[in-house]
Amino acid sequence: MPSNATDCVEPANPRHIAIIMDGNGRWAQKRFMPRAFGHQAGVKAVRKIVEFCAEQKIEVLTLFAFSSENWRRPEDEVSLLMGLFMATLQREINKLDRNNIRLRFIGDRSALSSQLQAKMAEGEQQTQTNDALTLVVAVNYGGHWDMCQAFQKVFDKITAGELENPTINNQLINQHLSTTDLPDPDLFIRTGGEQRVSNFMLWQLAYTELYFTPILWPDFDQDALALAIESFKGRQRRFGHTGEQMLNKPITL
Ligand code: FPP
Repeated sequence: MPSNATDCVEPANPRHIAIIMDGNGRWAQKRFMPRAFGHQAGVKAVRKIVEFCAEQKIEVLTLFAFSSENWRRPEDEVSLLMGLFMATLQREINKLDRNNIRLRFIGDRSALSSQLQAKMAEGEQQTQTNDALTLVVAVNYGGHWDMCQAFQKVFDKITAGELENPTINNQLINQHLSTTDLPDPDLFIRTGGEQRVSNFMLWQLAYTELYFTPILWPDFDQDALALAIESFKGRQRRFGHTGEQMLNKPITL
């Protein structure tokens, strides 16, 4: 018999899952294929994971597609990735829309081609009123970039006289981050075996549960994500409180 009512409560799903999709290159190399083949397989994995998150009623899924540092890759791989984003958007926007999925992008778009920027804006506009899953794709994104652009916006407002003597606090920074209208990630997943956050959502990950798996991204499927979600549900999130406090009170940040 459960000792009290809380023993019966099923732990909640994460509201926001953020993923570093690592391992495409190694997946291809293991098959003696070019890295491009791994990235193409990576897109197929994206589709499966997006569908699963929508089915599971996850509110937000953020995928790190291209970091501010990925420009350092060989030129042909960078242009392949850009071509793949464009082709994927051209193919998928209508499908996302039909499935009531809202598409969003975070990152510095100014370095992307004008055609890609236009397609991204079109995808966001077409799906902006959808209210099932929000799919956030991070392109030319870095956590340092996000914080710098937030601080710059605050500075510009002060200079323009729109903000007088502001107190710099969490709320003010949150209001100017690229993710301002989204909950912080509850669950961070990195595939491919490395155990680092690689400049991804540095501010927003402050209290996120971290999950690392050796599975290479193209092999990461619904079952693998379900396992990660199970691991998340088994954790006690304390947000600075003691374990005993968390048993007796609702979570407050
Ligand atoms: C990291 O694997 C993967 C990337 C830098 C690209 C990820 C992009 C996709 C899966 C395409 C997603 C497209 C959309 C539109 C969301 P890696 O190449 O670093 O792998 P490695 O560590 O094995 O070399």
